[in-house]
Amino acid sequence: MGKRYENKVVVVTGAAAGLGRALSLGYAREGGELVLIDIEPKGLEETRGMVEALGAKATTFVADLSNEAGVAEVGAAVLAAFPKIDVLYNNAGAAYGAVNTPIDRVEWSQFQFFLSLNTLAPLYLARALRPALAAAKGCVINQSSMAAYQPAVVYGVTKSALNQLTWGMARMFGADGIRVNAVAPGLMETPASAASLGAEHQAKIRALQMLDAHGEPEDIVNLGLFLGSDDARFITAEVMHCDAGHPYRAWRE
Ligand SMILES: NC(=O)c1ccc[n+]([C@@H]2O[C@H](COP(=O)([O-])OP(=O)(O)OC[C@H]3O[C@@H](n4cnc5c(N)ncnc54)[C@H](O)[C@@H]3O)[C@@H](O)[C@H]2O)c1
Repeated sequence: MGKRYENKVVVVTGAAAGLGRALSLGYAREGGELVLIDIEPKGLEETRGMVEALGAKATTFVADLSNEAGVAEVGAAVLAAFPKIDVLYNNAGAAYGAVNTPIDRVEWSQFQFFLSLNTLAPLYLARALRPALAAAKGCVINQSSMAAYQPAVVYGVTKSALNQLTWGMARMFGADGIRVNAVAPGLMETPASAASLGAEHQAKIRALQMLDAHGEPEDIVNLGLFLGSDDARFITAEVMHCDAGHPYRAWRE
């Protein structure tokens, strides 16, 4: 089988660690040219080195995606350098710590910060890159979460709004032939999830799954590779869950 991403440009945000790094390596293995964005320069450079070791090209952009100016600046810089973009994978986001504050306790400014990073940045970056996505008849993939169904914490609200945005963006961007979908991971084993969720908490989450299985970054990579490829050309406005059948999406916890 030929490589699915030869002559394709893939932009990954939050590429310095975890799922973003795994996704970057996945697209690189399939022949893609990578554009890597993150706020952490050290991890970003490490990912670039790993992508290049696979024989793929990579360009890095350090950016803070938690505010309008940061998103606009990196959007303009990427657009100037890459007139055709096949995939924008909006993966950067906060998933651990303060973003899990209950909504009846969170400070207004803190709520705004997490909404900006998790929800608004994916929309505004896609808007900034729309001409390049249109030129390639490309697609956008938003990293949602099974937590989108937990309305009582900030994290859940930011990701359920991202699901709504995915449907809205699919409708608006479809006019340019751009597909927009979301991937909603369950509990995945990344360094950040391991460091933030205790073993007991993780076991509790897994016990609710329909399958007795551990989610690994490669599970998300496989879905991202499919959704960004021509194999998914008829698929848009979908939120695809990859969570071993987690009941959060049926129940409101
Ligand atoms: N790991 C899981 O179990 C899981 C489950 C569901 C959803 N997700 C989602 O997947 C994505 C990645 O999660 P992860 O587990 O790899 O986490 P992670 O913390 O390892 O990765 C997040 C990346 O985003 C970057 N980032 C953070 N703030 C930024 C900012 N202001 N500007 C630019 N970049 C910034 C970080 O530097 C980091 O490289 C997140 O959107 C998260 O909500 C993860």
